[in-house]
Amino acid sequence: MHQKPYYILGIESSCDDTSASVLKNEEVLSNIVSNQQIHIDYGGVVPELASREHQKNIIPVVSKAIKDANIDKNKLSAVAFTQGPGLMGSLLVGSSFAKSFSMGLNIPLIGVNHLQAHILAHFIGKEDAKPSFPFLGITLSGGHTQIVIVKDYFDMEIIGTTMDDAIGEAFDKCGKILGLDYPAGPEIDNLFDENKSKSFKFPIPKVKNYDLSFSGFKTSVLNLIKKNTDKDKNFIKKNLIELCSSIQYTLIEIITQKIIYSVNKTKIKTIAIGGGVSANSFLRKKLIELANENNWELFIPKMEYTTDNAAMIGIVGYLKFLEKNFSDLSLKSTARLKF
Ligand code: KG4
Ligand code: ZN
Repeated sequence: MHQKPYYILGIESSCDDTSASVLKNEEVLSNIVSNQQIHIDYGGVVPELASREHQKNIIPVVSKAIKDANIDKNKLSAVAFTQGPGLMGSLLVGSSFAKSFSMGLNIPLIGVNHLQAHILAHFIGKEDAKPSFPFLGITLSGGHTQIVIVKDYFDMEIIGTTMDDAIGEAFDKCGKILGLDYPAGPEIDNLFDENKSKSFKFPIPKVKNYDLSFSGFKTSVLNLIKKNTDKDKNFIKKNLIELCSSIQYTLIEIITQKIIYSVNKTKIKTIAIGGGVSANSFLRKKLIELANENNWELFIPKMEYTTDNAAMIGIVGYLKFLEKNFSDLSLKSTARLKF
């Protein structure tokens, strides 16, 4: 038990969400996310526009997080920010802000790895059940797809990763082919109908060990669409639900098959998923079924902690704060940060 409450400000700015959160120990007092709508017209995140939007949003978002937490900023014990991986221009806005803030208040600065944060988001909350070590952390986002053995908070080993596209990227690229807005994952999920999920058959790639691949799948979707729209230009419109359902079914099949393989091979039966795609309704349903059938202990994050958010940066900040694992003001933002 920690006698004293610590208040941590978390800042996330790695991609296209500007977010700030205040935590009181492991409890979230506020979590503000400002999503950048500007990218929709471009069908994907435009890095230069993303950093400009962060620049506009960062002060109002942090102010609102502190206001909603109902604390005085002088009570903050530390400021944690995303060091990487991510888009350089976006990361720099968060890191410059966090550094100035820590200097201004004379409080410790804590750099956080965004991918560790997606996994450690499971330690948010005072009362909630937490995964016990070792567990398999499955990170499914727009930029990354990783299978990680989590031996301790900061002792993680990546055992599998995508060889090409990330799973969220596969959702988004397939959506783009279908004419859906970016990011297409949530819309494909919305249109998904399990009864129509076998309307079109796509191959499951055979990738060795714990690794994954999604680009061959995307090409098979593209080829099917091309072949059919050549014959009927209204093919997509007539089959939108069948296409979305079959795409989602196959993508979730690819990842669940790998999760089953990973559990069998590592003998680790505690699984925690994270990242934007962990919001997917069919993935959640399937994993819950698998967990019940096979006695897995499954951890699914609350919806607000699936896509990018600063509460997950704040919880890592808190865990590092307890270990006095502080960062120097010279810490550099890193687009391809490893752990
Ligand atoms: O973790 P995240 O917010 O950002 C990155 O770190 O990349 O993940 C964003 C990704 C996008 O590709 C988006 O399409 C996907 O998560 N996503 C979903 C769903 N909600 C968000 N994919 C499938 N089903 C969803 N419900
Ligand atoms: Zn993310």
